[in-house]
This record gives sequence, C-alpha cells and structure tokens, in this order.
Amino acid sequence: MTERIFIAVAWPYANGPLHLGHITGAYLPADIFARYHRLKGNEVLMVSGSDQHGTPITIRAEQESTTPQKIASKYHQQFLDCWEKLGISFDLFTTTDTANHAQVTHDIFLTLLSKNYIYKDKMLQAYCPKCQRSLPDRYLEGTCPYCGFPKARGDECDECGKPLNSSELKNLHCYLCSTPVRFESSEHFFLRLSALQDKLEAWIKEQTHWRRNVLTTAWKFLDEGLKDRAITRDLDWGISIPLSGFERKRIYVWFEAVIGYLSASKEWAKLRGDDLAWQPFWQDETKSFYFLGKDNIFFHTLVWPAILMGYGGLNLPYNVPANEFLTIEGRKFSTSRGWAVWLLDYLQRYEPDPLRYALAVNMPETGDSDFSWREFFRRNNNELVATYGNLAHRILTFAYRNFDGAVPTPGELDERSQDLFHKSELTLDKVEKLLYHCRFKEAIGEAMSLAQEANRYLDEQAPWKTIKENRQASAKSVYTALSALSALKTVFYPFLPFSSRKLHSFLGFDGSVEGVGWKFQSLPPGQELRQPQPLFAKLDDSIITQETDRLGSVFDW
Ligand code: MF3
Ligand code: ZN
Repeated sequence: MTERIFIAVAWPYANGPLHLGHITGAYLPADIFARYHRLKGNEVLMVSGSDQHGTPITIRAEQESTTPQKIASKYHQQFLDCWEKLGISFDLFTTTDTANHAQVTHDIFLTLLSKNYIYKDKMLQAYCPKCQRSLPDRYLEGTCPYCGFPKARGDECDECGKPLNSSELKNLHCYLCSTPVRFESSEHFFLRLSALQDKLEAWIKEQTHWRRNVLTTAWKFLDEGLKDRAITRDLDWGISIPLSGFERKRIYVWFEAVIGYLSASKEWAKLRGDDLAWQPFWQDETKSFYFLGKDNIFFHTLVWPAILMGYGGLNLPYNVPANEFLTIEGRKFSTSRGWAVWLLDYLQRYEPDPLRYALAVNMPETGDSDFSWREFFRRNNNELVATYGNLAHRILTFAYRNFDGAVPTPGELDERSQDLFHKSELTLDKVEKLLYHCRFKEAIGEAMSLAQEANRYLDEQAPWKTIKENRQASAKSVYTALSALSALKTVFYPFLPFSSRKLHSFLGFDGSVEGVGWKFQSLPPGQELRQPQPLFAKLDDSIITQETDRLGSVFDW
C-alpha cells in the first residue's frame, strides 16, 4: 500500500550562510527520509524555503548597511546552491517573500481573528529614547529571569533556550546602543494559545511515537501553562496586517514562517499546473513529518498545531523528529567567533557524500553529537574508502577484467553465497524499518554492516585465487559479491545518492536508482559492466590540521 508523506523542513533565516549544524539538524535527515519514501513508491512532498522576515534579517542588513531585501536574496541564492551541491532534494524551496505566502498568511490571520483565536490588545512596547525607535524583541538585551544569562534577547534566552516575553527581562536595554529602554503602550494582536491548552494536551498525549526529547520539551511548556503570545510587531519589514490602521506594524516572523509549510504546498501545486494538488497532503490521509533542530520544538509542536487547530480542517503533524545539537571539535557553534564549518566552504574542497556519511552516522538523534575533522577523516578513509569503496572497487575491477566486462553466470550457489544473498535481503528490510521510524544513525550502520559482511565473504572466497583452477567457483563468488553491491547501492541511496548513482551505472544498469525503487535489484548474468572508478577518494591526514586551523577565523560569505 502506498502512503502519502508530507515532509516539512524548518525554514532557514536568510541572514547568513548554512553550517553543519543546520544540515545535520534538519536538511540531511529530511532528505534521507524523502529519498527513502520516494524509492518506496510513496507520494512525497518535501517543502521549505528561506525565512526572509523578522529582525534576524533586519539586524544583519543594518550591520552591513544594506537592505533586508538584498540580504535575503543573497542568502536565498546561496541556499539553492547548497541544496543542489549537497543533493538535498526539495520538491520546492521557496521564500516567505512571495505574494502567495502573504495571501495564505492573511487568510489564516483573518480566519483566526473571526474565530476569536486572535484578539487585539494593548501591550507595552519597548522604545529607545536615544535611537528614537520602538524596539522589537531581538533589539532588546537583558538578563534572563530563569538562568541569569546577562545577554538574553527579547524573545529567547540563548543560554537556557527559554522563549521569553521581553517584559520579563531584567536590566533591559537597547541592543544597538545599550541605552535603558522605556515602555509605551501599543496595540497588537495576540494568539490565544491559552484557549487551546486542553486540546493541545490531549493531542500531545496521543503522540506516543514521538522522540522522547521532543515530548519532554512539549510537556515542559504545557506544564508551565501556555500564555497568549503577541503575533504582531512594530516593524516595517515583514508581512502586513490585513486590517486598516496597522500599516506601520507587521506580522511576527514566527507566526507567518510556520504558515510557509502550507503556502509552499499551495505554490508547489500551482507550479505543477494543478492548483489543488496540495489538498491531499493537507486534507486527506497523509503522514506529515517536520524536521528541525531542538530550538524550534516549541513552535512546531505547540504554536503551529494551535494555529492549525484554530483554523480547522488541515492535518496536524504526525511526527516532529527534532534533532539535538551538533558541536564542532567539542565546542558550541558560534558564528561571531567563526567556530563553524560552513557548508559551501566544505563543498568547494570535498565531495558531498563523505559529509553526508559522517553526519548521518553520528546524527544527534537522541543527544548532542560532535563533528571533528579527525573523525571525518577517519570515517572517510576507514569506513567509506576501506570498507564500502574498496569492496566495490576490487570486485568491479576484477569482474571487469576477468569476465569480459560482464556479469558472470554463477551456476549453482553454495550455502555461503546464499547466506550473503539472504543478508542482503535482510538488510533492505532492516534499513527500511529503521528509516521508516526516523532512526537514521542505526539505519546507516546496518547498511555498512552489509558492506563489511560482503568484504568478509570476498576474503574467504578469494575469487582471484580460484579463477586459476576453478573458473566456475570464481564466477559464483564474483556474481554473489556483485549482487551484494546491487543491494548496497539501494540501501545507501538515501544517505549517499551520488555514489549510489555511480555504482548503479558501474553495475551496468540503465535508468535511475529511483526508477528501480526499494528492492534488491537482481543482476542478469551477461549484463555488461561499465568501466569502474573508485567511489570515494582517500584523504591525506594533513587535512586534519589544515581544516582545524581554519576554525575560528571569520569568513566573509
Ligand atoms: N528561521 C527559523 C530558524 O532558523 C526557523 C523557522 S521554521 C519555520 O530558527 F517553520 F517557522 F519556518
Ligand atoms: Zn538605542
């Protein structure tokens, strides 16, 4: 039975380059998941886009003396380049700056307003007497009331991760000039989260299949009691409020960015010439998965579901497999200190698959994990090259040279060879189950263990020895090992799409890996092989110090 799978991936702020934390947190797991489901023949829609609004963009524009629009377009282009080079296979990667997105946002805003889930109220708004401007949350700095961190921002504490209302901060001052702020009363709109507390609780209780860290975070907020939240700001960059008298205010970036999942689905439908194609994903039976880093759990498990519940008639998330954080060489990412590995920088010097491998094998699914260049080097050379790449290369070149460039006829298979066929079948099943449940790390581990097993088989069988006295025995083991490679190109495909495509071609198959689907594609004896090349390149250990030395220097991207 085919399933319909909606894959929503957190929208990156278009205010700076992507680093490995973004990739391992959301984009890579989402892509692995999408590729797997497409191979299964399921109906998949994977969308996201640049988050172009809000103070992250305006602050960056102010720092660079340019316009928010210029900043947003620059990074949007960069994101598109990254997806292509890393093989992140979105069905649509759009932006929040489209007319369609504004229209969908307005519709949701007005509907919630008419249903009384949004209401108007006065709120105290910070104002800087020196800069003579009202200050949105991110332009405020103060001491976090929960953990005492002195540089908490007005909307969130970077240290303890709590979302904040700026009025809760102590020693509140202007982020731009450090002047203590004044408060003035201003009219804004609020999302009545408190009214949905019971409904959200009942819904979260049913989500027993969610990751524990995600449930824990959602319950933490529910147990504290959900507070209504302002969803408009005094700003001029962002989505307008569709009511007169509010021309100088904008809809809060978080309220509209999550709506992007719906508006992007509608845009995708229009682009493929079938305006209603989004509906099955939102109104019929569909499993919706939301991929994001743990700092976004609140908005995706509570705020967005609340908006959907208030609006009515649209599917709620089925799962929110949020990842924990990735540290770099044991330290937290820091853009200002340049402590990051930038994706484009990486891609200028290395292939995409080794990175996809290193990140997937160590994905921060149940706890934080660390990326180090030593580990990257080790995984590339000892696992990708020595285990998988070497297996592929020795058997492909041997077959190519000794069996006239074609798949040999195996004759009858002995028990040992049948075992490897069996293990190949079994690996497809195991990897499939793990991927289905978003257990990426274990899934790639299973795939690698098939490569190890095939290597053991080959060492025992030594077709390069038997070829001299028993060509039939050699043909049998070559055939069996080539078949294991055929299983490997499939089980590795969601993780390592570039090398799977190569392997598919070296094995002499035409068409695409995607076209074959999630199955153990058998090799017809006599099929012509293509001239093999190494799947992965061995790295020199000098890259370890070279790359670690680059950390901490600030790049101009
Ligand atoms: N731009 C936000 C961030 O980088 C994520 C937004 S996810 C969305 O943290 F769903 F709201 F779009
Ligand atoms: Zn100021």
